[in-house]
Amino acid sequence: MVTNNPDLDRVLISQAQIAERVKSIAAQVAKDYDNVDNLYMVGILKGAFIFLADLARELQVSHSVDFMAVSSYGKTATTSGEVRLVLDLREPIIDKHVLIVEDIVDTGHTLNYLLKTLRGRQPKSLKTCVLVRKERDSLDINVDYLGFTIPDVWVVGYGLDYADSYRTLPYIAELNKRVYSK
Ligand code: IMP
Ligand code: MG
Repeated sequence: MVTNNPDLDRVLISQAQIAERVKSIAAQVAKDYDNVDNLYMVGILKGAFIFLADLARELQVSHSVDFMAVSSYGKTATTSGEVRLVLDLREPIIDKHVLIVEDIVDTGHTLNYLLKTLRGRQPKSLKTCVLVRKERDSLDINVDYLGFTIPDVWVVGYGLDYADSYRTLPYIAELNKRVYSK
């Protein structure tokens, strides 16, 4: 699919494809956590806010929602591997069933940092749910629920940004290299 926005090269994942996949992930999560009192969903800001909102509303199992924010990138499309905690959870997660909800895995440093940090707080269980993962060399991280695999390009939309723009596009699109190599 092509778009009429000159900053975007092509739509990689359409709004309908996302909606369908979110529904099937929610069904799988509900099945897996069927016998659990409450699922503690941890959305990673800012990128995962739209995915988490849609996923949580599809989810037919008792759950609560909390957020963390980390920062790993500057305003450019490059990675440092350094992750900094910007906003922490409101509650301890000891003995809770925790599901990290993240927008994208690129190098894997962010999710790796989150897993290490949250595992140290002794949750009853800890799993990961990621909307998109790039096909590239990355840290060997287990993603329990994965929406889509995409090529190693910069994507925006459905929560994903470039320098805080394009987040609220309803689809996921490849950003034109001209935009981030300025
Ligand atoms: P990682 O630590 O390299 O796996 O990168 C993860 C974080 O980088 C994600 O949570 C995003 O915030 C950001 N990121 C990586 N690739 C993209 C992209 O293509 N578009 C938008 N954000 C991205
Ligand atoms: Mg993110």
